[in-house]
Amino acid sequence: MRPLQSWRRRNRGITLGLFALCLAAARCLQSQGVSLTIPQPNINATVAQDILLSVEYSCHGVPTIEWKYTSYWGMQKIVEWQPGTQANISQSHKDRVCTYDNGSIQLFRVGVRDTGYYTVTVTEGLGSSQFGIIVLHVSEILYEDLHFVAVVLAFLGAVATVLISLMWVCNKCSYKFQRKRRHKLKESTTEEIELQNIDC
Ligand SMILES: *[C@@H]1O[C@H](CO)[C@@H](O)[C@H](O)[C@H]1NC(C)=O
Ligand SMILES: *[C@@H]1O[C@H](CO)[C@@H](O)[C@H](O)[C@H]1NC(C)=O
Ligand SMILES: *[C@@H]1O[C@H](CO)[C@@H](O)[C@H](O)[C@H]1NC(C)=O
Repeated sequence: MRPLQSWRRRNRGITLGLFALCLAAARCLQSQGVSLTIPQPNINATVAQDILLSVEYSCHGVPTIEWKYTSYWGMQKIVEWQPGTQANISQSHKDRVCTYDNGSIQLFRVGVRDTGYYTVTVTEGLGSSQFGIIVLHVSEILYEDLHFVAVVLAFLGAVATVLISLMWVCNKCSYKFQRKRRHKLKESTTEEIELQNIDC
């Protein structure tokens, strides 16, 4: 009887051990599943720019990448693809989106309406997935641009002022010079006349 009991106990112990091992492996797999990095989660852009929504994922298998767009007007799917295959781009973004193998997408000629939240989901075959969000803000014209224009205008104004004062000084100088020359010319002619008079 005794050896049988101890054998059963040992058997139960082994089963428990195996179960724990399986759990640990599963947890390990899950944590190793997909990782996703987003270097720039906030992007400010101006109208008509081309914007790269840059992400980078890592996982073991070939994942499915999906981008969604959320704004005041609701949520819509932009694109879904597996790296190395043709991307399925939604009608709303046809000809405006380009996909990269690292999961990034590029939006061409953004408008104010493209302002919103862009959610990327990377799903691996085993079912583990990660998602990330990029906030894009598209404005008509940046304050910095106006600032730049103002600085350029001020610079041009300063250059114009300097040129105008230079011209004024030159004009004054040449006028004085001409007057002096005329004066000298007059003096010499009167001298000549006087000389001629003496000659006579
Ligand atoms: C984008 O603009 C907001 C203000 O509109 C500012 O708080 C934020 O720092 C800007 N982000 C970048 C990355 O320039
Ligand atoms: C993803 O790939 C694109 C195009 O090659 C690159 O410009 C971008 O920097 C990459 N993103 C990251 C986070 O490495
Ligand atoms: C592309 O996506 C649409 C809807 O998002 C779906 O109906 C269609 O079957 C997909 N096409 C391919 C080739 O996966």
